[in-house]
Amino acid sequence: MLSVKLNGCDNFVKSTDYQEYVKKALATKAVLDAGTGAGNDFLGWKTLPSETLESDLIEQCGAVCDKWREMGVNLVVVIGIGGSYLGAKCAIEALQHGFVQRTDAPRIVFAGENLGEDYLCELMDLAKGMNVACIVISKSGTTTEPAVAFRIIKQFIEQKYGKAEASLRIVAVTDKARGALKSLSTQEGYKTFVIPDNVGGRFSVLTPVGLLPIMAAGYDVKKMLEGAKRMQDICSEASGENPAVKYAAMRNALYLGLGKKIEVLINFNPKLQYLGEWWKQLYGESEGKDGKGIFPASCNFTTDLHSMGQYIQDGERILFETLVSVATPSRKMVIEADEQNLDGLNFLAGKRVDECNQMAQLGTKLAHIDGGVPQIEVAIEKLDEEHLGELFYFFEYACGVSAYILGINPFNQPGVEAYKKNMFALLDKPGYEEASKEIRKRL
Ligand code: PA5
Repeated sequence: MLSVKLNGCDNFVKSTDYQEYVKKALATKAVLDAGTGAGNDFLGWKTLPSETLESDLIEQCGAVCDKWREMGVNLVVVIGIGGSYLGAKCAIEALQHGFVQRTDAPRIVFAGENLGEDYLCELMDLAKGMNVACIVISKSGTTTEPAVAFRIIKQFIEQKYGKAEASLRIVAVTDKARGALKSLSTQEGYKTFVIPDNVGGRFSVLTPVGLLPIMAAGYDVKKMLEGAKRMQDICSEASGENPAVKYAAMRNALYLGLGKKIEVLINFNPKLQYLGEWWKQLYGESEGKDGKGIFPASCNFTTDLHSMGQYIQDGERILFETLVSVATPSRKMVIEADEQNLDGLNFLAGKRVDECNQMAQLGTKLAHIDGGVPQIEVAIEKLDEEHLGELFYFFEYACGVSAYILGINPFNQPGVEAYKKNMFALLDKPGYEEASKEIRKRL
């Protein structure tokens, strides 16, 4: 079961101060639970694990995957950006073999999360030789990046398989009624899955936004939902031992009390790189507003100990770390003795690679605490669907509690509109004529 440890934080935050933040966290938790806080029309994510387990959504997703299996699909292009992409990417990267494609499920690739022309050309190079399906995901149904990618993939699928078959190969995940993607899906006869109105993009990994691509990749989303449901129950407890309360209380004690403005989410497992990306979006878009908010960063250790490690140890003292630790690896590898011992590593003979990794983790913790970097630890037992489900729900719930402590509405994202307005003006989108004139004067 996921647990939160406050490693050496008592070297930095007095116990009485921490207890004050626990009280604040319990108060904002009550507001979140009662649904009386800012953005309370976006709280559907709180009950997603229990409600989805009772629904037929898993069967519906399974029917799509079965159909594609019958059709021999071996490449699924998942199109989406931000909250419509990062949850699935995070889960699939965490669960899949790092090098070998499984033979009982299609390869999953992502598009629409950037506007790289070379990226899309190379993706089409791959698609040409494969049996292709597509999941296009957009809550608003109007986001430019996925819409551009979808236009390209749709044309490719229609040309390769014909329009009738394209409608079996394309599935849309979008709003139940609004947006261009919904209208297009109705017109073209695509199977659609609904993103509930009351679930925002970055809180949507446990809706079809995350569940369908994760299932298409061959993973057990029921187990993921069961892990999330366990965390839903635990997070409901009004206790200072509730892991979400502990995490929200300590990160705010470090930020508001000590001026630690940057939180670095770290891991010692390369499979967790995209957990950092998912978490950065969740916390960055939820808390970074009104001139406030902890800046969320991420590092992958031990890799980044050889780059960012220097700054963390010795740079400006405005950082704290949140370590996501995994107790047990899924596989085993022992370091063997070498007769010549030219590398001098025979002292490691008989030890598992993971023992070295654990000691790197412990050594880093002690060094960083000595260097003035407090560390919170979010510990899970192993990296599988259930524990990922726990992590997703835990971080979402703690985000709500934490943002409310700062007096912020965690469920809107007014700041992401600014670049879009400029981009549309620069691209002469109809309706942006005045903005186009204004922006050109600045160039
Ligand atoms: O969290 C959010 O709301 C955003 O990151 C969105 O998920 C992202 O902008 C994509 O939006 P949409 O799903 O409407 O295409």
